[in-house]
Amino acid sequence: MSYLPVAHIDDLPPGSTKLVEIECLEIALYNVEGSIYATSNVCPHQGASLADGKLDGEEILCPWHQWCFNVKDGVSPLNPRLKVRTYPVKLEGKQILIDLPE
Ligand code: FES
Repeated sequence: MSYLPVAHIDDLPPGSTKLVEIECLEIALYNVEGSIYATSNVCPHQGASLADGKLDGEEILCPWHQWCFNVKDGVSPLNPRLKVRTYPVKLEGKQILIDLPE
């Protein structure tokens, strides 16, 4: 496990998204009613920024062609074979940390 700080909770109010870049990765953060989740920012369809999409409950709607993914497990509710990578998240005080692969 290697949790790295990526953002401050005050910069991610409930219902919002945020793009962070760390170690050459683009990661989208989501605040779902106070719980924080993280996925790859890159839509597996044609690469749009998921952080620019619309967060509706636990689902992020891609801004380009409206594919959607559950931000908890990355799986599309429309097609379970479609998935975006997720990352473990934890909070330390007001700091959001993400576990990146070694
Ligand atoms: S790029 Fe995301 S749905 Fe097409």
